[in-house]
Amino acid sequence: MEPHSNPRSVSEREQLLIDPGFGKVFTDHMATALWSEGRGWHSATIGAHRPFTLAPAAGVLHYAQEIFEGMKAYRSGDGGIILFRPEQNARRFNASAHRLAMPQMPEDMFLEAIEELVRIDQEWIPSGEGSLYLRPFIFASEAFLGVRPAKEFTFCVIASPVGAYFKGGKRSVSLWVSEHLNRAGPGGTGAAKCGGNYAAGLMAQAEAIEHGCDQVVFLDAVEHRWVEELGGMNLFFVFEDGGLITPPLTGTILPGITRASIIELLRRRGVNVAEEAYAIDRWKADAESGFLTEAFACGTAAVVTPVGALKSKDGEWTIGDGLEGELTASIKAELVGIQRGLFEAPDSWVR
Ligand code: COI
Repeated sequence: MEPHSNPRSVSEREQLLIDPGFGKVFTDHMATALWSEGRGWHSATIGAHRPFTLAPAAGVLHYAQEIFEGMKAYRSGDGGIILFRPEQNARRFNASAHRLAMPQMPEDMFLEAIEELVRIDQEWIPSGEGSLYLRPFIFASEAFLGVRPAKEFTFCVIASPVGAYFKGGKRSVSLWVSEHLNRAGPGGTGAAKCGGNYAAGLMAQAEAIEHGCDQVVFLDAVEHRWVEELGGMNLFFVFEDGGLITPPLTGTILPGITRASIIELLRRRGVNVAEEAYAIDRWKADAESGFLTEAFACGTAAVVTPVGALKSKDGEWTIGDGLEGELTASIKAELVGIQRGLFEAPDSWVR
């Protein structure tokens, strides 16, 4: 971390907010708390955003006992601040903690840390299309090299003003099919939001870039046949007959909050959305025949991003006209409108 004043001056902040990109600029503060066996959570505080002092034997550095969340605070048209379904993040955080043999965090404590940090750093929420990306995480900070769940953990929330996840706000992305590198397998940690899943996907992502694609699409680890997710985003397919498919939550993909919200919004419109296994060969055939008219990726960071093309060792397929389709555009507008307080949200979706 480059040394800089903390808090930064108004002019420094304004400069940093002009074009923050994704995940490169951080606010002045962070929330932290500690957990120790026998004592539980303690020492919750908000202080300056700063580096940690960590024992070289800290469990996270050796056995990757770590989980995180991704969520955003939005500036509404009337100057208010909106959090989108933060309770869902709190619940998924605990589900991930459970899978990684880590302590549970009371939902109130999670929400208080988020809200307090957003309140203190509210000047960092970009206006316009940007938002304040919030990254809560817990890691094993106990210094111990035996392989067992740690007895000390550190919780932290950092905040980062962000613009579009894809450089230049790309209109549609291309995907490379990973045929032999898996992200997650049955009984593994695929449904948990833990750093290890992302590390496991990096080589496949590098392969996608080598093939001129933006993102990698993972298949199931057993048959290498069923479409799963992109590593940091879930997928939806839109068909000529008006129906949609999104891969089901079988335990190997992340249960996205954006994914769940889109399913609910579409079903409220009366659209038929199936949570159903979709084979890669069918994807190629549907793209070729034109039965697949649109595909999009979604997530907190990516919001709703059209998928324009699919590429594998067997060839290349364009989806629809390769640009943003009508349904993709309309569901994105509805979701973003709710997140920014422009449209009425379903019960308790915004806070
Ligand atoms: C998110 O969408 O919040 C994620 O954690 C995914 C990552 C690609 C940034």
